[in-house]
Amino acid sequence: MSGAAPLETPVKRSPSEMAVQGKPATGKGAITLDHIVKRYAEERVVDDVTVDIRAGKFFSLLGPSGSGKTTTLMMIAGFASVDGGAIRVDGVDISNVSPQRRGFGMVFQNYAIFPHLNVFENVAFPLRARRIDEREIKERVAWALGLVRLERFSDRYARQLSGGQQQRVAIARAIVFHPTVVLMDEPLDAAEIAPPFLRHAETCSGDRSRWLKLAVDTMPSLAPRTAARSQPTR
Ligand SMILES: Nc1ncnc2c1ncn2[C@@H]1O[C@H](COP(=O)(O)OP(=O)(O)O)[C@@H](O)[C@H]1O
Ligand SMILES: [Mg+2]
Repeated sequence: MSGAAPLETPVKRSPSEMAVQGKPATGKGAITLDHIVKRYAEERVVDDVTVDIRAGKFFSLLGPSGSGKTTTLMMIAGFASVDGGAIRVDGVDISNVSPQRRGFGMVFQNYAIFPHLNVFENVAFPLRARRIDEREIKERVAWALGLVRLERFSDRYARQLSGGQQQRVAIARAIVFHPTVVLMDEPLDAAEIAPPFLRHAETCSGDRSRWLKLAVDTMPSLAPRTAARSQPTR
């Protein structure tokens, strides 16, 4: 991926609306990719990408297969190192911070549902890792499963779910700990993705009309701001 050029669309939401269930998020979640580079062997698979993503906004990276979208997401999440440039969140360079300390929600392309854990325990996983107490885990998992309309599926395992349901489990797991940033690799379609985020956002801001408008504005592409590269890598 190279030469990504953001297309601006005016958006009216303020970062403070990221406050979740009465708890303000610790950061705002504005992301800057500042001339980032990723090399595998001699090849620059991400070549000097610069993008500003404001807090609280949907943003899509578009590009053909092999253009470096997943690699870029992995660098933002911290699962791939950055070979040049810097990644900043709210102005702070996090290029060398571990994925755990970044604390972003991540929906992997293959969903990465733990096969030996049921739906409830998959969604509870990030909360257990943060040593949240059992009562709050039950409440928060119920809340997240409600957002993705999987309340009745908590005892199921991945093999007993459709692809869309698995993706919704992955979304619930990515938002259950109220991250400031959620990254999604090739979400299936806006119809699956937007409703849980819309309801999540309503919970955050308590202002349904504002969010209904946002949902209408962002359907079907979901992303009011988009970075696209115009040429395939090779
Ligand atoms: N771990 C890796 N080792 C070597 N090459 C890789 C690795 N991961 C990705 N690549 C290469 O980097 C390029 C970008 O891949 P990727 O980010 O997965 O693209 P996209 O998600 O846009 O389809 C591809 O040419 C791919 O083969
Ligand atoms: Mg990919």
